[in-house]
Amino acid sequence: MDHLLRCHPITGDNFVRGENCDLFDDQGRRFVDLESGSWAAVLGHSHPRVNAALKAQLDRVMHLGVRWPNHLAEEAAVAVLGLVGEPDGKCTFLSSGSEAVEFGVQAARRVSGRPLLVTFANSYLAAFGSAGAKPAAEWCLIDPLEWAADPERCLAAIPFEQVGGFVFEPGGGGPTFGRFPAGALVRAVAERVRAAGGLLVVNEVTTGLGRTGRWFGYQHYGLQPDIVALGKGLGNGYPISATTFRREVAEALERSGCHHAQSHQNNPLGCAVALEVIETLREGGWIERAERLGAWLLGELQRLKARHGCIRDVRGRGLLLVLELDPAGPCTGTPLQAALRERGFLVGCYPAGYAAGTGVRVDPSLTVEEQDLARLVACLDEILP
Ligand SMILES: Cc1ncc(COP(=O)(O)O)c(C=O)c1O
Repeated sequence: MDHLLRCHPITGDNFVRGENCDLFDDQGRRFVDLESGSWAAVLGHSHPRVNAALKAQLDRVMHLGVRWPNHLAEEAAVAVLGLVGEPDGKCTFLSSGSEAVEFGVQAARRVSGRPLLVTFANSYLAAFGSAGAKPAAEWCLIDPLEWAADPERCLAAIPFEQVGGFVFEPGGGGPTFGRFPAGALVRAVAERVRAAGGLLVVNEVTTGLGRTGRWFGYQHYGLQPDIVALGKGLGNGYPISATTFRREVAEALERSGCHHAQSHQNNPLGCAVALEVIETLREGGWIERAERLGAWLLGELQRLKARHGCIRDVRGRGLLLVLELDPAGPCTGTPLQAALRERGFLVGCYPAGYAAGTGVRVDPSLTVEEQDLARLVACLDEILP
């Protein structure tokens, strides 16, 4: 791996085949992928239905010019808009989650006429662009910890009358590390932004498509967004993302003269995959299962916490779970990740955020085998002092 740019850690592993939650390396060794790739393979690797749809579309047409989106883009738009509760809305398909969020961010600025947006300080949002860099001139950052300490003071510091939108990430980004924003905070910010004429943009790149035991993370907060960004799970690993708009917002954006054309926008291959993913998730009841299985796993992790003093916290929603260890204790996140890997489990451990390197993250496919999770719990019990 000498010719891959090292802009983030790269291991020497060579995974050559995937089947549901299993990854096999070039030596034939099996690993249980409890990160679903980059939290994207909600239906597991090489899902037969998704792969069949992909192969069938490959032989029809995989790419069209941006002026000629075909019926699949319209059908996928109808499916996605139905899911986000805006059947009359409009949608565009892009390739990555970062693009979908950034497009939603730029659209909110354009429609509201205000460049200033608000988000939580620990939101990830995107790898680049304004949403990635969050320059102070364009973003007001609300720290959930400051809000918890003094809600009035924290919100009084935000010039809501100048804010064009609230870009809400309902958990899921690396820096949030399994911390889901408090409902009272989310609703207070959303109310103030909307009262001042701003828009509610929700980043569902990680939380969307069932990860938290509901179709979308915002559904835990009783909100109806104006703009939603989707990615990851929408293609089950195939790079397709989407930005959806409430009809009036879409029309205001169109009237504003917004011109946004990208080579792979609304591409038929991605749209065929997205349609199949949505149908398969719906028909298989996988999201309801994720809620049940996640609650069971959280309970098991809580039982481990009672037995192992080095566990500081366990938390999660659906199949997005975090086990946080005492940073001063005998075992922290990085060695635990390595020990689990030796036993055939791949889990996440990230250096950034409120819990830097102190814990591991478990985000399996919604199709994960229950017995693999039970084996994980047994392994943790054995490894942890
Ligand atoms: C919460 C969240 N938003 C946005 C993104 C960006 O998506 P992508 O990596 O597909 O650009 C990520 C990626 O991990 C994410 O976790």
